[in-house]
Parts: sequence; structure tokens; C-alpha cells
Amino acid sequence: MDSGLDQQRLERELAGIAGPVRYLPETGSTNSDALDWAAEGAPEGAVVVAEYQTAGRGRWGRSWESASGTALLFSLVLRPPPEAVGLLTTLAGVGSAAGIEGLTGLEPGLKWPNDVILRDRKVAGILVETRVSGSSVTGAVVGIGVNVSSLPEDFSQEVSGTATSLAVEIAAAGRRGPPERTALLAAILQQIDQRYRTWAPERLLEEATARSVILGRTVRVRGPQGNVMEGVARRLTRTGALELEAGGTLAIVESGEVERLGAP
Ligand code: BTN
Repeated sequence: MDSGLDQQRLERELAGIAGPVRYLPETGSTNSDALDWAAEGAPEGAVVVAEYQTAGRGRWGRSWESASGTALLFSLVLRPPPEAVGLLTTLAGVGSAAGIEGLTGLEPGLKWPNDVILRDRKVAGILVETRVSGSSVTGAVVGIGVNVSSLPEDFSQEVSGTATSLAVEIAAAGRRGPPERTALLAAILQQIDQRYRTWAPERLLEEATARSVILGRTVRVRGPQGNVMEGVARRLTRTGALELEAGGTLAIVESGEVERLGAP
């Protein structure tokens, strides 16, 4: 474990990178807190960080669990223009991967739509949620969970075959110690902030493509209703979807769970 998170240190190290910061030793979900704060008028760039979540959320209603102090758990409030909303998960993925790389030298890949990958295992997950009032979006929240100092025995049985942490990967690379979570948060927020301010969707898609571990590969995609498609993952679209080539035709997949099947 690192030397811990605290309000003063977070404020000091995130000055100029993020908006106001709320540190919570324990909460239900930082995404819920950030959505509430956004609805109350939190400025863009506001961040909620927690040591421990009792009801951390993953995609499709799944839970996201991590032992206290072992993960970086945070949610960022943004107020993007409507055309950028679909690419927020891509932005968060590229920003997280670049932040991790800058601080550790590890080179994370991205598995569409929301996984940050090291050596074929998930090191971080992203959950973007929006709250709508009438016809307008009151705020978008980018929630990110990074497994930092977790050891293999810390993972639940359900994810132990597919999850990893920075500590495990840094040790496998023959180096010592995961980064401090405050420094990691600052590095990730800086990478997100820089790309968000100078919004350039084509460049962002190029970066996501360069880090993708699925493009050009044959994949099986399971949709939210359990429907399954197989094909070659061809490209990421301007709305954050995946283009899949299946049986000679191109299909646009808006949401799914991807499994690699091999080379095309
Ligand atoms: C996934 O991989 O399914 C997404 C996981 C997202 C987890 C993070 S942890 C911080 C934030 N608060 C939440 O409740 N979820 C996100």
C-alpha cells in the first residue's frame, strides 16, 4: 500500500489539473457521489476520490469491488458537448493508459469499450454515466477504477483469472513498487484534461486504435441482451462504437463484451 490518500495532499497535487476535489474514506460509489454533485452544480473538472466503495458499479449493473486502499477509485465531472459524449469512455481509456505509462513505463492496451489491459488482463475499468433532466444532460461522470497494489489473492474468484494490478505487472517487469495513488491520479487526470481541452476526436481515435488489443482480430461480441456476433474488429467510430466485419458486411456495435478468438 502507498502512504495513503488525504484531502490536503489531493488538493495540493491536483491543483491546476482538476477542479474541486472531495476525498471520502468510504462511500457507496464515487460515480453516484459525482452525479449528485454534478446535479447540485459541481463545476467541470470536479473529482470524487474514495479509499473504499461499498457499492462500486461496473458496466451492465455489475459490481466493482476492491479491497480498501488497494485501488485508485475516482469519478470526474465533465459537461461535454453532445457530440463528445460517445467518446468519453475512449478519452478515459486513452488518458488512463497514457497516465499509467508515463508513471510506470508499462504500456497498457485498450480492449473496447472500457478495459485497460496489461499482459492480457484487466488493470482498470471505466464507467461513464450521465444524468438527464428533461431533455438536457445535467452532467457526465467518468468513473475509473485502477487496481494499484492488489495482489492476486485480493481478487474475487469471479475475476481472478482476468484481473491484474500495477503491483503485479511492475513486479513481473522486474521492478519495484507500484506508484503512489495520488501521483497516478494526477497523471491520469492530466492526460484526460489535455485531450479534453483540445478536443480532437480523430487524434483520440488514432491513439485508441494504436493501443487497441482487438482491432484487426477475430472477436466474439456479446451484446447486453445476450445476442452474440463474431467477426473481425475493424475500427472505432466517431460515436465510440466498434465496426465489426462479419460475413462480408460491416456492422456497427454500440455496446458489448469482447472476447478475442485469434488472428483474422
Ligand atoms: C467496468 O469495468 O465494468 C467499469 C468499472 C468502473 C469502476 C469505477 S471505480 C470508480 C467509479 N465508481 C464506481 O462505482 N464505478 C467506477
